[in-house]
Amino acid sequence: MTSHRVEPLFSATEISERVVELGRSISRDYPSKEEPLLLVGVLKGATLFLADLIRAIDRPVEFDFVAVSSYGAETKSSGEVRVLKDLEAAVAGKHVIVVEDILDTGLTLRFSYLIENLRARHAASVKLCVLLNKPARRVVPIHIDYCGFIIDDVFVVGYGMDYAESYRNLPYVGVVRFAEQD
Ligand code: IMP
Repeated sequence: MTSHRVEPLFSATEISERVVELGRSISRDYPSKEEPLLLVGVLKGATLFLADLIRAIDRPVEFDFVAVSSYGAETKSSGEVRVLKDLEAAVAGKHVIVVEDILDTGLTLRFSYLIENLRARHAASVKLCVLLNKPARRVVPIHIDYCGFIIDDVFVVGYGMDYAESYRNLPYVGVVRFAEQD
């Protein structure tokens, strides 16, 4: 691993306060408690965010996880996205919110793929919730319905997000500073 250090960006308190606000917005936007709401977390990065977010939602809510991969930024066809773990929950007739850790270039097409896939399964509606948005890096336009924080073009870790599988367990979000950036 290249020599680096991690600088705090958002503290655990800042994150939990923002997650409470997002939970309130979601509760307000789906007022009819009879309408089923399903939150779909994208593995692995969104696990901690999803766990906190569902506890901030004041109405019945179901959750599930998907794992998707793609062949990376050099491939641009949605046919390149592979589902590694599908949903167990039924989707038809439910309001679905896809929960992701971070929206960067949009080139992996996981969002567009998942949203189209859920619509094809007759979800009543499909929205996107991301903890972090890096708009400066966006190549593919993607509409975000709920966003935790907007950040600059930096590589972040913690609160579920990793650098080579490390740092997912940090309770805060930090920026990775590589030695050559010093
Ligand atoms: P996109 O298609 O470029 O938007 O890819 C988004 C995905 O790339 C995220 O869901 C993360 O898995 C990963 N990613 C992008 N930026 C970062 C980062 O700063 N830290 C950790 N993972 C990142």
